[in-house]
Amino acid sequence: MINYREKIADVLTHHMEGISFEEVLDMIEKPADPKMGDYALPCFKLARVLRKAPPMIAKGIAESIEDEHLFEKVEAVNAYVNMFVDRNDFAHEVVAEAIEKGDDFGRSDVGAHRKVIVEYSSPNIAKPFHIGHIRSTVIGSSIANIYDFLGYDIVRINHLGDYGTQFGKMIVAYRRWGNREDVVREPIKTLLEYYTRFHKEAENDPTLEDEARATFTKLEHGEKEEMELWQWFREESLKEFTRVYDMLGIAFDSYKGESFYSDKMPRFVKELEEKGLLEEDQGAKIVRLDEYDLPVALITKSDGSTLYITRDIAAAVYRKETYDFYKNIYVVASQQNLHFQQWIQILEMMGYPWARDCVHVPFGLVSMEEGAMSTREGRVIFLEDVLNRAVEKTREIIREKNVNTENIEETAAAVGIGAVIFNELSNYRIKDYVFSWDHVLNFEGETGPYVQYTHARACSILRNAGEEVVAKAMKGFDSTYITGDSAHELESLLYEFPDVVHEAGDKYEPSIVTRHIVDIAQAYNRFYHDEHILTDNEDEKVAKVALVMAAKNAIKNGLALLGMEAPERM
Ligand code: ARG
Repeated sequence: MINYREKIADVLTHHMEGISFEEVLDMIEKPADPKMGDYALPCFKLARVLRKAPPMIAKGIAESIEDEHLFEKVEAVNAYVNMFVDRNDFAHEVVAEAIEKGDDFGRSDVGAHRKVIVEYSSPNIAKPFHIGHIRSTVIGSSIANIYDFLGYDIVRINHLGDYGTQFGKMIVAYRRWGNREDVVREPIKTLLEYYTRFHKEAENDPTLEDEARATFTKLEHGEKEEMELWQWFREESLKEFTRVYDMLGIAFDSYKGESFYSDKMPRFVKELEEKGLLEEDQGAKIVRLDEYDLPVALITKSDGSTLYITRDIAAAVYRKETYDFYKNIYVVASQQNLHFQQWIQILEMMGYPWARDCVHVPFGLVSMEEGAMSTREGRVIFLEDVLNRAVEKTREIIREKNVNTENIEETAAAVGIGAVIFNELSNYRIKDYVFSWDHVLNFEGETGPYVQYTHARACSILRNAGEEVVAKAMKGFDSTYITGDSAHELESLLYEFPDVVHEAGDKYEPSIVTRHIVDIAQAYNRFYHDEHILTDNEDEKVAKVALVMAAKNAIKNGLALLGMEAPERM
């Protein structure tokens, strides 16, 4: 596709003195109101160089470039040069590319031959997979999809929280109050009950805590019985997680979690010691980070056991040695900001030049109307319940509306689960939010079902147009028929789609894609409302069908980046 910004910067540079192509490129803006043109050049900055008032400069530039065939119209408005591109060429350029590239429209190869690790989800074993986990899981998966689309080689890692003192507690509780059948029937809910009970009973009987610590130590030393129980808890939990991942259509290349690094610690403790970074503090080993305004990092406890942070240091080095990543992205809650600052700083102090290629991508908190979620107090909303209810509701709507679909179950899953995913990816990730059933089950307005429905309607038009017309449109079309205001607005959004994918990748922000496909869907619906698509004029019909196809492709690809399906019938 023609890069319009560059083309315009090129034209402008030819008509201006004392200013470079790059500077001009940097100054070009996209007016918020399409009535002010497709592109604009604010002339304030030029006043100093050209020693003239900005409106005068704008007027001069507008006059000198108005005959360029790139433009339909150029206007000077106050200090701005407003440029209207030739709609005919523009429409042809964008629509031809979008239909030719199809599923690859928006794809790039900037990332070729570079490996990017995206770590996401990473739940703690034997704890409920609750609505809080949807964030890392869905945001992370989408970031991985986006980097994949940008041509990077992706490794998706689930850094399971499958290690730590809580397993000592769980084992103690299981031995005292548990039984096998309950665990097999409902592993996570049952294990959570044990865990909750442990904390209740420990309030009156502090020896329980000692027993749990001793049990964890046994586990660390690889004692058979403890190992078997732990392994079993891990497997049963993973079965439940996998069920949810399958529903979400999310997968991983590696499930190497914290336990994998448990025997790889001594190397790092030794290395920190040799590099003079480790200090002894009441039997524990610490790294001081005052110089960086960060709190002390605890590397090993006084009983010699290692900690979360130590395992992260080991995991980062392991990943560098195994994958030689270009970037190692961690999609983890903002509550852990400090933790990431600490260990990335420590890696840097250890002299690893790639330390800053480890990127923490934080996100805000989900709470419940009753307050913060608390596993300990059993106050949680299970993610699986949310997904099931969303599917159920969709199924009801499909039945009510008598939707013409061959497979109700498949559509209900795609739309119901899609609604939850879309909702999750609609806001800036860093924002906190309060979970609300009404909100997540609302399918009106700027929601996933709305965008999917728009896509399905476009598919239906293409079916009605017939294969012959579609085939003709693929071969060529007369773009003069798709230059009206609503067509042009839609084309402008389609034109930006590839840049939007880049921006979403650079900012680790899937919501940029979400918003853009809502914009495309809305612009498409305006076009559909304003224009008669399947007209009797064959050439006009072919051109409009081409635009419908282009919009459909962009929406479908955008949905795929979010991790959503795009059913053809709804
Ligand atoms: N398991 C942790 C939790 O649930 C998240 C792990 C984040 N990843 C990491 N490499 N530390 O809080």
